[in-house]
Parts: sequence; C-alpha cells; structure tokens
Amino acid sequence: MDKITLTATLSFGLEAVVKRELQALGFSDLRVSDGKVELDATPEDIPTLNLWLRSADRVLLKMGEFGAKDFDTLFEQTYALPWEEWIPEDGVFTVTGSSVKSQLESVRTCQSIVKKAVVERLSEEYDTTWFEETGAEYPIKVSVRNDVATLTLDTSGTGLNRRGYRKQAGRAAIKETLAAALVQLSFWNNGRLLIDPMCGSGTILIEAAMIGRNIAPGLKRSFASEDWAGIPSTAWEQARKHARSCIKSDVEMQLFGYDLDEEMLFASKSNAKAAGVKKDIRFEQKDVRDLWIDQEHGIVISNFPYGVRMGNFQELNQLYISFNKIFKKKNGWSVYVLTADKKFPDYFKRARPNKTRKLFNGAIEVAYYQYFGKKP
Ligand SMILES: C[S@@+](CC[C@H](N)C(=O)[O-])C[C@H]1O[C@@H](n2cnc3c(N)ncnc32)[C@H](O)[C@@H]1O
Repeated sequence: MDKITLTATLSFGLEAVVKRELQALGFSDLRVSDGKVELDATPEDIPTLNLWLRSADRVLLKMGEFGAKDFDTLFEQTYALPWEEWIPEDGVFTVTGSSVKSQLESVRTCQSIVKKAVVERLSEEYDTTWFEETGAEYPIKVSVRNDVATLTLDTSGTGLNRRGYRKQAGRAAIKETLAAALVQLSFWNNGRLLIDPMCGSGTILIEAAMIGRNIAPGLKRSFASEDWAGIPSTAWEQARKHARSCIKSDVEMQLFGYDLDEEMLFASKSNAKAAGVKKDIRFEQKDVRDLWIDQEHGIVISNFPYGVRMGNFQELNQLYISFNKIFKKKNGWSVYVLTADKKFPDYFKRARPNKTRKLFNGAIEVAYYQYFGKKP
C-alpha cells in the first residue's frame, strides 16, 4: 500500500495554479486534465496536500478506474478493488457520485451499486454481515465520465475552501480557493502594495496575507482522513508541526481593504482575526468613488459586484466609470478584476486586458481580466 495515486480536484481554469502549488511542495510527474491534477504519492503525503493546497477543492485517493457501460460491470469491478486495505471493519462509508456523458446515467443507481459491492467485499473480508459503523468516516466517490468509472476515497471531507476562518461571508463572497488562485495569478508578492477596493468579507486579502506569511491554509481545520488507520497518525502530527514552523513572523505587508458596507467590514475584520492575519490588513469603510491613489505602483485585485448575483446594471456602470477614472492614468498599477460581466473591458479604457482567464465562481462563469502595470 506504499504507493498510492492522489487526485487534487479543482475548479475549471485553475489547473495550472494547482500544478504550480504541487511543484512547490516538491511533487513531480503531475498529470493534468480538466478539473484535476493526478500524482503518485505515499499515504504520508495525504496530510501535506490537505494542509497546504490553497486552490484545490479536495484531495482524493484513487481506488480504481475502469470502463463501465452497464451496472453489472460497475458492481464487479468495484467489488474487485481492495477496499479492506483502507476501510476497517468499523468504518463508516457513504457513497456520492456524478455522471457525465455516460450510459450509466442514474447517479443514484451508481451510488447504491457501489455501496452494495463494497459491503459485499468487506463482508467477505471481515467475515461478517453486520457493520457497527462506529469508526472513522471513509467518503467514497464514484464519478462516471465518458463511460469510465473512477472510484475514490475523499481524504479531505469538507472542501478545502473551508479553512475555518470565515465565520461571516458576504452575500457574494468568493470561495477561499478561488481567492487564493487570484492572488497567485497576479504579480503580487510580500513587498508590494495590494488593495481590494470592494473587499466584502475580505477573502482575497486574507488569502494574500496567508500566502505572505506562509501559513498553511488547512492548519486550523480537520480532515476526514485524520483518523484513517492507513495513514500513520504521526504523519498528521508531523505535517502540522512542520506547517507551524513554516509560518513567517517577520513579514511586513501592505494590504488594504475597502467596502461601502459597514457590516462587510465588520465581517472582514473578524475573519482576518480568525485567520491570524488581523494586523497585516487595514480595513476601512470607503466608497470606491472616493478612492484616492497617490502611489505610483501597486496592485488591485477585486471581485466586482455583478448583476447575476447582486447590484443593478445602472449602478454597476457608474462603478465602472469611477474605477476607470481612478486607474486609467495609473500605468504603474496592475489591475485584476474578476467579474461575470463581459462588458467590463469596454468600460475600463486604460488598455485591452493583457490576459483574460475564464474561471468559475461556484457555478457562475466569470472572467479574470488582467491588466499589467509598468514594473516599479
Ligand atoms: C462581489 S462582492 C465582494 C466579495 C468579496 N470578494 C468576498 O469574498 O467577500 C462586492 C462588494 O462590493 C461592495 N461594493 C459595492 N459597491 C461599492 C462601492 N461603490 N464602493 C465600495 N464597495 C462597494 C459590496 O458591498 C460588496 O461587498
């Protein structure tokens, strides 16, 4: 059981970011495809990936993959997998699933067939028909895509976006994993000024501060696989200890967050405090129309309000016009805007975007418009 295959699942468009994160953690031979990065690993790597990946959704342990066009094949092939290597007699296991462009269309039937096959396999292995289900949780996922079934165990449990610091989210808060990706896709580094003029609950700035301080994003939460017998418990302890030792305490950052809404600022401050980065970010109530920039160089990363989720279109146009006025002559500023509104580039007249990246904020398709500023 020493060599295993792990899959970091992610939101479409973030493949390159997660690949870079894995490389920075020392992993190579990474297989990238739509929505995931697969790698060879050992059980001891499970804590590291869960604690450190900033932009991935989950870390899955691959149990097997096979072609399945009918339910008999799904049952037989699932039954043939060595589930007992991971799931003990008292293990609790639920099955969730998905099906895309496949003959096995009914997700519910796929789930119940997989559950039946695993129960049958474990019944024979443990010579029992009664499972107490009092032990650790082993969430099984069956995903069928183009008639190929992939069976995995979810080592993360709740999604990796749930860092544990965001007790209060704004109406249109972005996922922490996406916010971390926006920062990593920008030119920002510790030494540079960064503002989010419509910061909402502060997610982008909090993620930047955590990157700047090298705080592992998963350090304050727990994971489904923490009690798995297949991962030495010392591996979790060691990975947490190492992560704590990596935190940089002597870093000075220039991070500023503004928002019109007082309640949002209250939320940002309490979230930043919970994340351990309160003193790194200055939050202030301000209308973006009153923003005054006197520095020559800096970086703006912001997730604009947009019609699909909030705001009305006239107000938005006014907002774009003000934003354009502030930054159109600030050529030393790199401007990064995430929005679902495809008209945004028509209003921001400084230049055409240097790069536009298609991303997803939950189920909503958005674009990340990137305007590069002149180097300091
Ligand atoms: C999409 S939300 C930002 C969400 C944020 N990224 C988060 O994760 O919570 C947009 C924010 O813009 C703020 N906003 C709208 N109009 C504004 C204005 N004129 N000046 C400043 N903030 C504004 C809203 O209060 C809202 O919090």
